Amino acid sequence: MSDQEQQILHSWEVNAAPWTQVVRNQEIASRKLVTDAAIIEAIKIRCPATVLDIGCGEGWLARRLADQGMQVTGVDAIPALIGTARAAGGADYYQLSYQQLVAGELRQRFDVLVCNFSLLGETSVENLLAGLPAMLSPGGSLLIQTLHPTSACGDQPYQDGWREGSWQGFSDAFSRPAPWYFRTLEGWLALFAHTGWQCEQQIEPAYQDGRIASVIFVLAPS
Ligand SMILES: C[S@@+](CC[C@H](N)C(=O)[O-])C[C@H]1O[C@@H](n2cnc3c(N)ncnc32)[C@H](O)[C@@H]1O
Repeated sequence: MSDQEQQILHSWEVNAAPWTQVVRNQEIASRKLVTDAAIIEAIKIRCPATVLDIGCGEGWLARRLADQGMQVTGVDAIPALIGTARAAGGADYYQLSYQQLVAGELRQRFDVLVCNFSLLGETSVENLLAGLPAMLSPGGSLLIQTLHPTSACGDQPYQDGWREGSWQGFSDAFSRPAPWYFRTLEGWLALFAHTGWQCEQQIEPAYQDGRIASVIFVLAPS
């Protein structure tokens, strides 16, 4: 595992407690105003009986989907996050890295696989996506919500590559920001093509004033 990929996991380990607090207190405006509802709607419209929440964190999405009658499983690499998710209930939670997940730890297929702001690395994400078709029920979909490449790019060159992390806008309780792998739109589409997915739909959730908040890719095995 590369140094950057290790830093991502380490960062979530040390920030599990403040992250749980900001998510549960709905302190992230983009989530509260736009992106939480957008991913729930994109899943609900597919009427899945079973959902796998990949990189589920403290489990808010799994709980919300379970409230709608779906049978949900959440996986995340970080023991403290899985612990808080289990304590809040609603779904089955397993402490698994993406590597362990695609190695076949869960012997089950799901109608929807969802990654909500949880694809942060380079090779970890490539290997995950390459392994996920085997976890999907026939006719199922993979949904990925992530930062919109055009707004996340900032004033750096619009090209794939590692970016320095930051907890700007978060409290002092957060530390050790991890690098993250920026992908252009072309970069995402190329990644999908070479990991066995075709993009069926791109949803661009936006604020009321029209600003883009994120992108949701809806994918099917190719
Ligand atoms: C920004 S949080 C999003 C959490 C959750 N999906 C949500 O919407 O609140 C990113 C999550 O991805 C998880 N994650 C990142 N890389 C991972 C990996 N290689 N294996 C398993 N989990 C990973 C982190 O532990 C963290 O919980």
